Amino acid sequence: MQIWPHKHIHTLANFSIKDYESVFELANRFDALKNAGTKKIPALQGTLVTSLFFEASTRTKNSFELAAKRLSADVQTFAPSSSSLTKGETIIDTAITYSAMGADTLVIRHSSSYITFEIAKKLDAINSKTSVLNAGDGLHSHPSQGLLDIYTLIKFFSQKTLNPEVLNSKKILIIGDVNHSRVARSNLWALSAFGADIILCGPKTLIPDEFINFLKTPAPNQTEDPVKSRGSITISRSLEESIKIADAIIVLRLQKERMMENLLSSIDSYSLDYGLTPEKLSLNNKEIPILHPGPINRDIEISSKVVDRYPNCLINNQVANGIPIRMALLYLLQKHNK
Ligand code: CP
Repeated sequence: MQIWPHKHIHTLANFSIKDYESVFELANRFDALKNAGTKKIPALQGTLVTSLFFEASTRTKNSFELAAKRLSADVQTFAPSSSSLTKGETIIDTAITYSAMGADTLVIRHSSSYITFEIAKKLDAINSKTSVLNAGDGLHSHPSQGLLDIYTLIKFFSQKTLNPEVLNSKKILIIGDVNHSRVARSNLWALSAFGADIILCGPKTLIPDEFINFLKTPAPNQTEDPVKSRGSITISRSLEESIKIADAIIVLRLQKERMMENLLSSIDSYSLDYGLTPEKLSLNNKEIPILHPGPINRDIEISSKVVDRYPNCLINNQVANGIPIRMALLYLLQKHNK
């Protein structure tokens, strides 16, 4: 396995194929250990993982904390409402404080895009050894979700051994509010890296035409794309036509406030046009995998019948796969710092 090159993880835009492979190989090993009955290993004994969640989370926060515990790290949890943020302490000073307590990794979620870059820059400037791991920043990025989504798809399509090449030329349909989704942005980097062709489907107000050029936007301080050749992005406004040719579907959560912002005429009309139902799925003659990052709005962007009864609805697999993927990320960051 290569030496892990990133001190901090902010985005998948700067991930090379080797980086993805390192994460998947490790996640697969952690998965195999768990399946053989070894849930907890001493890999990160004596290290400290601190979770700084300034925004609500069920899946990401708890699975990062569980991942750290499974690696025998100490886990420190920060609660914004009872912290000195309420006395006016800044987010940057909060991060510096936890670094001074000895945090090896800060897992950070915040509503401001790119804030993890700012925090990491300040920590590096004071020669802190602490790594920053982005657990979702504004609309920008959700790298661990992008990784667990693609890992889930690779596991689904692989025969015996995990083989990321199975995604090459697969048509992956992403439905919904791409413009306000950090998950979709991370999915676009991850899926395209392995040659998947991505179809974005939704109304123009939620998927502007400019998204076609998304992969030309590098990460801050990045001069070139570490992935030589990527899959394509196309945009479709017809869910029915897109479903007919899809090999897999990722449904995004519809944030209801988009109606207040006049981006949608009504939730009902959105559901009618873009909600995923068994009837629409039957337009595809295969039982293709369905993913959703959660939390779901039942019977808005996805029908309960699909969530509860469709055999290849992989939402719970995504949640389960989030643990080994996050174990791999915490482990690799710790190894970088050694
Ligand atoms: N998918 C996701 O980020 O879920 P949470 O907000 O529950 O962490």
